[in-house]
Amino acid sequence: MDTQLDSWTALALLDWQVELGADEAICDQPVDRYALAAEARKVKAKPAAAPAQTPMVAPQVDPVAEARAMAAGAGSLEALRAALADFDHCDLKKGARSLVFADGVPGARVMIIGEAPGRDEDREGRPFVGRAGQLLDRMLAPIGLGRAADRDSAVYITNVLPWRPPQNRDPKPDEIAMMMPFLERHVALADPDVIVLMGNISCQAVLGKRGITRLRGIWTQAMGKPVLPMFHPAYLLRNPAAKREAWADLLSLSARLAEGT
Ligand code: URA
Repeated sequence: MDTQLDSWTALALLDWQVELGADEAICDQPVDRYALAAEARKVKAKPAAAPAQTPMVAPQVDPVAEARAMAAGAGSLEALRAALADFDHCDLKKGARSLVFADGVPGARVMIIGEAPGRDEDREGRPFVGRAGQLLDRMLAPIGLGRAADRDSAVYITNVLPWRPPQNRDPKPDEIAMMMPFLERHVALADPDVIVLMGNISCQAVLGKRGITRLRGIWTQAMGKPVLPMFHPAYLLRNPAAKREAWADLLSLSARLAEGT
């Protein structure tokens, strides 16, 4: 290699190489730019690709509409339980051990609606079996009501939600909305004379209002039935002083049943 080039000549040679297409100083293999150009022409000449297929989009499911259809199709309490077991749109189901459907006597004059299963209920698959449930049983006994009795002195118990929310958190409005068609059908099939709503969540679900301190003890009408809101037994465990009002509400329930409603 000639090392005697002056800098101007070296620059002129470099310019000439760049003009020929050299764009890097070192190459492992010589680049045949005529072949590259021919390849580029072939690529350009290729027919246009077929337009991209529109991806298949799963049809949007409305969980409330689906719940309504499934609940409406249930002709018995057993069928309703099966429909709930088949309903896969509520995420609570994934985290729960059991479907907690109901307890007591179907067709009882009194239907009690609680909030949602807790840990004990999730474990046993029956509503109100933990501490709050035991208090509920002790509240009902003095007015002659219980879970295992003839229709006249029996209660039938369920919850707004059949699956335990994680860490016993409050049910979310969309969870309640999704499960309402099942609860409405549950009431229609059980056909009680009166409904007792335990606590704020069931008042929110059935009456569309909260504020149990104001609502409790005042009979109203919902789902085609006389409805009595009461303090939730779990609230009474935390606030024993409120048992006085709960007792007044139980007497009101007893009087209403005695009237024949
Ligand atoms: N609290 C409820 O509201 N329901 C149950 O089943 C248990 C506790």
